[in-house]
Amino acid sequence: DASDIEKGTYPHYMLKEMDEQPSVVRKIIQEYSNGDDELTIDDNILEALKQADRLYIIAAGTSYHAGLIGKQYFEKMAGIPVEVHISSEFGYNMPLLSEKPLFIFISQSGETADSRQVLVKVKEEMGHPALTITNVPGSTLSREADYTLLLHAGPEIAVASTKAYVAQVAVLSIAAYVAGKSLGKEFDFDLKQELGIAANGIQTMIDRKDELEQIAEDYLKIARNAFFIGRNLDFYVSLEGALKLKEISYIQAEGFAGGELKHGTIALIEDGTPVFALVTQEHVSLNIRGNVKEVVARGADACIISMQGMEEEGDRFVIPTTHPLLTPLVSVVPLQLISYYAALHRRCDVDKPRNLAKSVTVE
Ligand code: AGP
Repeated sequence: DASDIEKGTYPHYMLKEMDEQPSVVRKIIQEYSNGDDELTIDDNILEALKQADRLYIIAAGTSYHAGLIGKQYFEKMAGIPVEVHISSEFGYNMPLLSEKPLFIFISQSGETADSRQVLVKVKEEMGHPALTITNVPGSTLSREADYTLLLHAGPEIAVASTKAYVAQVAVLSIAAYVAGKSLGKEFDFDLKQELGIAANGIQTMIDRKDELEQIAEDYLKIARNAFFIGRNLDFYVSLEGALKLKEISYIQAEGFAGGELKHGTIALIEDGTPVFALVTQEHVSLNIRGNVKEVVARGADACIISMQGMEEEGDRFVIPTTHPLLTPLVSVVPLQLISYYAALHRRCDVDKPRNLAKSVTVE
């Protein structure tokens, strides 16, 4: 059928979609560049961002994980305060809102019912402006919001979101950077150039599939559970890495902030427990390496994924140098691929995991 043609020679949509990630980032750079070759977003959206005294990012699952990164972007690059909320909780547990909120809905499908109920409430009942960041033009969340930013990732068919996450992070970085520039912030880096470098970094990850397959085999072949740890942006990527592994391989997995382990979770570490540690954030690299020592001392089988320039002997996988704000674009890719191969080894249905739908259209 038509969907088989689209998959081409790939055994799974997920693999195809992971492979597309470098070109998705390049496409986004192109779509969000103006005639002067500078990054840009729609004037009305820029104005809405600048008018807001606080942004409320609402999303679910992987899109929520992208939102956590988006918060750092808007706060660090544009100086706009941000709250990030899980859409299913927000409806009945709404925080006190600021005077001039702008709601940002992040949704690959644009059809997630939990997010839509928040949109209806804040826009129709409360009259607040809303922006949807989605991969699907004309989707419900896009039609019902005031503004839309598109992800330009092309259709994502696999239930596990991969290229849409990378697209969300890239588009959020552009929106925050453009807003920051327009608000008079000075940057010591050129985001457009750094996104291009990240796209190349993602390609390098894609080209190293064999190594990642081997890591999946070494660490996850007989694992009952697994942990992902990181600090700062690496913490958010750890959450996403754990979700990917859970969804498609059914291995129980949790992502943690490195420093939080000792407050309880470290009790679960036994001989051979796999712990994936991300080390891409220089200012906390000593701290996260300290956390790795703590789990290794209790028998954990640690797999350190570090960034070039910060690597140490014994690290299992090194990702290419990426701008510190953009490391999630690159570091998520080995985690996606490790999950993919772990699921394959277990003969799981990678594209259509049990109990899950691509978009959750019930509350
Ligand atoms: C991601 O791998 C999941 N399948 C899921 O968490 C997803 O991100 C979530 O349901 C939100 O979907 P959306 O982005 O289409 O709103």
